[in-house]
Amino acid sequence: MVDKPRRNFYGRQHGKTLRNRHKEFLANDLAALSPGLISPQDNPERVPLDLPTRFGGRPVWLEIGFGGGEHLVHQAASNPDVEIIGCEPFINGVAMLLGKIHDAGVDNIAVYPGDVRDLFDVLPAGSIKRAFLLYPDPWPKQRHVGRRFMNQTYLEPLARVLAPGAVFRVVTDIPEYVQRTLVQVPGHGFELIAQISAPWEDWVSTRYERKALREGRVPHYMTFQRLG
Ligand SMILES: C[S@@+](CC[C@H](N)C(=O)[O-])C[C@H]1O[C@@H](n2cnc3c(N)ncnc32)[C@H](O)[C@@H]1O
Repeated sequence: MVDKPRRNFYGRQHGKTLRNRHKEFLANDLAALSPGLISPQDNPERVPLDLPTRFGGRPVWLEIGFGGGEHLVHQAASNPDVEIIGCEPFINGVAMLLGKIHDAGVDNIAVYPGDVRDLFDVLPAGSIKRAFLLYPDPWPKQRHVGRRFMNQTYLEPLARVLAPGAVFRVVTDIPEYVQRTLVQVPGHGFELIAQISAPWEDWVSTRYERKALREGRVPHYMTFQRLG
C-alpha cells in the first residue's frame, strides 16, 4: 500500500447548508460522474486512471477549481466531442455544478470533488489536452507562499499530465499574481503564447470574475503551451 502524501488544504471545503435539491444531486449524481475516483482512498495504490476506457478515447480537458461551474458547463456544451474533468474541493461548488449539469443536459463532464494534487497523482502522463485555471486563490502573504498554485508543488505535476502542445489558460485579477504566473509557468516547461486584457472568444464570465469587475479589478488572461 502506498502512503497517502500528507497534504494540508487551506481553502474552504464546506459553506452554507445545502438546499435539498443540491443534497440530492450529490447523493444521486456524483458517483456516476466521477472520472474513476471520488477520494484518494478509492485508489490507495495510486494506479493511473484508465481515461481511454472511461472516456472512449475522446480528448480530455481539465478545469482546476471550477467554483460554481459556469465556465466548465459552458465549455462542455460548446465542445461536445471533448470530455472535461472539473476539480473542486468546495462541496457547495460541486453541488452547484451538478445542478448546472442537470439543467444544461451536458453529458461530457466528469467531477473530482477534491484537491487537484490528489487528482494529479492518478492522471497518466500526457493525458490532458487542455487545462484551465481561472482566478486561483492568490494567497498574497509571503508566509502562505506554499499554498499558491504558482509553485513547484502544483506546476510540476501539471506539466507531467499535460500532453506536449497542450494549452494551459490562466486568468487572474491580481497584478502580483500575473507576474508570478509569467515567471513560474514558463519555468516549468511551458511557453507563453498570449497575454491579453480582453477575454478569450469562447469565454464565459465566472462568478468570481463578475465580482472582480464590480469591484474595479482588471482581469489578465494568459495562454501557455506545454513544450515537448
Ligand atoms: C477564487 S476561486 C475561483 C473559482 C472559479 N474558478 C471562478 O472563477 O469563479 C478559487 C477556487 O479554487 C479552488 N481551489 C483552491 N485550491 C484548490 C486545489 N488544491 N484543488 C482544486 N481547486 C482548488 C477553491 O475551492 C475555489 O473554488
